Amino acid sequence: MTQGPLTTEAGAPVADNQNSETAGVGGPVLVQDQSLLEKLAHFNRERIPERVVHARGAGAYGTFTVTADVTQYTRAAFLSEVGKETETFLRFSTVAGNLGAADAVRDPRGFALKFYTEEGNYDLVGNNTPVFFIKDAIKFPDFIHTQKRDPYSGSQEADNVWDFWGLSPESTHQVTWLFGDRGIPASYRHMNGYGSHTYQWNNAAGEVFWVKYHFKTDQGIKSLTQAEANQLAGEDPDSHQRDLREAIERRDFPSWTVQVQIMPAADAAGYRFNPFDLTKVWPHEDYPPIEIGRLELNRNPENIFAEVEQSIFSPAHFVPGIGPSPDKMLQGRLFAYGDAHRYRVGINADHLPVNRPHATEARTNSRDGFLYDGRHKGAKNYEPNSFGGPFQTDKPLWAATPVSGVTGDHVAPGHTEDNDFVQAGNLYRLMSDDEKGRLVDNLAGFIAKVSRDDIAERAINNFRQADGDFGKRLEAAVQALRG
Ligand code: HEM
Repeated sequence: MTQGPLTTEAGAPVADNQNSETAGVGGPVLVQDQSLLEKLAHFNRERIPERVVHARGAGAYGTFTVTADVTQYTRAAFLSEVGKETETFLRFSTVAGNLGAADAVRDPRGFALKFYTEEGNYDLVGNNTPVFFIKDAIKFPDFIHTQKRDPYSGSQEADNVWDFWGLSPESTHQVTWLFGDRGIPASYRHMNGYGSHTYQWNNAAGEVFWVKYHFKTDQGIKSLTQAEANQLAGEDPDSHQRDLREAIERRDFPSWTVQVQIMPAADAAGYRFNPFDLTKVWPHEDYPPIEIGRLELNRNPENIFAEVEQSIFSPAHFVPGIGPSPDKMLQGRLFAYGDAHRYRVGINADHLPVNRPHATEARTNSRDGFLYDGRHKGAKNYEPNSFGGPFQTDKPLWAATPVSGVTGDHVAPGHTEDNDFVQAGNLYRLMSDDEKGRLVDNLAGFIAKVSRDDIAERAINNFRQADGDFGKRLEAAVQALRG
């Protein structure tokens, strides 16, 4: 901002910013005091709607560097050669809390990454967990209602959370993960990120691969116990946000090693798990992770509202060589995010500096709307045109996938080893006895708050089906707490 006198929004100098204008000394305030009215009115409009989920977050810019040749799998230009660098913006978040909530809570962390590529922005909107609670987008609003504030009490209610999870057994894997040792990261720097869904990669020859992304923290995994988190949430509600900003300020740039699991398209139908089921991982022995890059965060945003609050990420932002899979959750998300952005930030949200392409330009015939800045000047606004306007490429971003059958509210197909409990049980059995003990204590502490025995019992029964010992220990721990 240039030096000079304080002004109104219209640029006129302000004479007095301490005393409003009154009719006489000690008299009422005058409507003609434009700088007072404008200041109060602008203040009333400082907030935009917070994100309906993931409201609480922090972001930073960085660099993605390719470290392995993946051109046999994808033709995406930003992945085209080893050593190639792409600017990124990453927003971390918690899920359930409102904008002012504390960071140190048991909740998944969002890991929303924007690659500013020369073929447009590619967004990977993931979490710090490789799986999710549900597998169909139609359940998402109900699920989130149980995580958020109850319509009567205005608080998160254990009854609602466990009622939904108990009645949605597919959540057992993710809930086991969430109440385990990694459920409360010590900071955004000390956790992994995952694309979670399966996505499509396609190469120059048109071959299709299914891919899962993993971002392994180079800082090492560090987590908090429930007791540590309870204390930190009270002492420093901004702990994650502060940790990230301060690390970057002292040039201790956090980084992640980027890996992918690759499944040739022909494997998908016969794989032991439905590869498009978001409640399942692909065990590493089936598809070993391959290192492909390094992500470093090295620049803080200058203005949190402009660059973090107004940032938008969409799973539908693909680039040539990358596309969606038939995962029903992902398909729902392809709609939900753009719709949320148009409501929350506005129809020209993509024009803001943090959101617009940085390594290419957007050339569309969309125009006008609230806060349109006239960037297209007098250019024609239709296609096709004879005035040198932008033209279609006739090259789809992703490859076609075969479909079969009839329309209907179909359950996603189960593969040979699919059920809601198998991977939750495997995760439990991987844990040391101490880890199992902490997991059971964390779960029991929360289930014990449920007011109805049938809801508590149904919740425990899901863990019993994952592993008999898990269920027995949990039942005993809940009983001990409920008396
Ligand atoms: C069908 C299920 C889902 C729906 C309908 C949904 C919807 C939404 C909506 C509406 C937002 C707010 C967007 C905004 O206002 O900018 C959001 C944010 C977010 N969601 Fe989802 N979500 C779903 C599942 C998931 C899953 C499975 C993940 C991770 C694997 C995820 C990760 C995120 C993240 C990281 C954000 C915050 C993005 C940011 O930092 O701006 N969501 N989601």
